[in-house]
Amino acid sequence: MKSEQTIPQHIAVIMDGNGRWATRRGMKRHEGHRVGVESARTLVTHCRKIGVRHLTLYTFSTENWARPEEEKRVLFDLLVRFLKGELSSLLEQDIRLRILGEIERFPLAVREMLKHVLRKTAHCKSMTLNLALNYGGRDEILRAAQTLAGQGLRPEEITPEVFADALYTHGQPDPELIIRTSGEKRISNFLLWQAAYSEFYFTDTLWPDFTPEELDKALEEFSSRQRRFGKTGEQVED
Ligand code: IPE
Ligand code: IPE
Ligand code: MG
Repeated sequence: MKSEQTIPQHIAVIMDGNGRWATRRGMKRHEGHRVGVESARTLVTHCRKIGVRHLTLYTFSTENWARPEEEKRVLFDLLVRFLKGELSSLLEQDIRLRILGEIERFPLAVREMLKHVLRKTAHCKSMTLNLALNYGGRDEILRAAQTLAGQGLRPEEITPEVFADALYTHGQPDPELIIRTSGEKRISNFLLWQAAYSEFYFTDTLWPDFTPEELDKALEEFSSRQRRFGKTGEQVED
């Protein structure tokens, strides 16, 4: 077991359990989303502080379009407010925003705010904040295949590197650690290609209760794991 903590370059989070957090308190699901945004805000700053280079937050999946109109409206409204409120803080912390997913399906106000923050933070270099929006792993892989087919590449030209370059995450390392809150133990169409060798950390904590201390617990466990990439335990021992 390694003694010092290893900080992953890229952490990805499935922020789950907002609805249950609220209903358990006799509140509307909206309240869970509202408090969940605060957890996200705090996590971004904490990750930047400890030296994480890429943070990916699963914010709205391709399947989440099936949610009630009212809930989607609240989520989009919270997203616009978050972006508006965070822009100066992102710039101050030198954090660049990137979007994983196709944003054309979102209402105009959401698209405009996203484009604004993307433009304003494009020069930031200390950390990349990826918001997975209208994101689905299958959709991403399918689009990459379609893009490459459209470019008329020959089969042997489609290498893993070329393929990865056609994904939303192009130019970024795969996440070493994927965290899912709320006790669910599934991938829910998240980063299907990129998660090939990620370590998974599951916690029963609901997303609105997820604090930097919870992240530290995940990092502690991550540091104690041995990543093998298909080799034997002896081969990777350093
Ligand atoms: C995660 O919380 C937020 C989104 C998926 C947008 P949920 O809304 O899925 O909360 P639960 O799983 O119903 O508790
Ligand atoms: C995954 O959570 C998507 C996001 C966190 C944005 P869901 O709550 O939508 O996933 P399932 O439906 O429980 O698998
Ligand atoms: Mg959920």
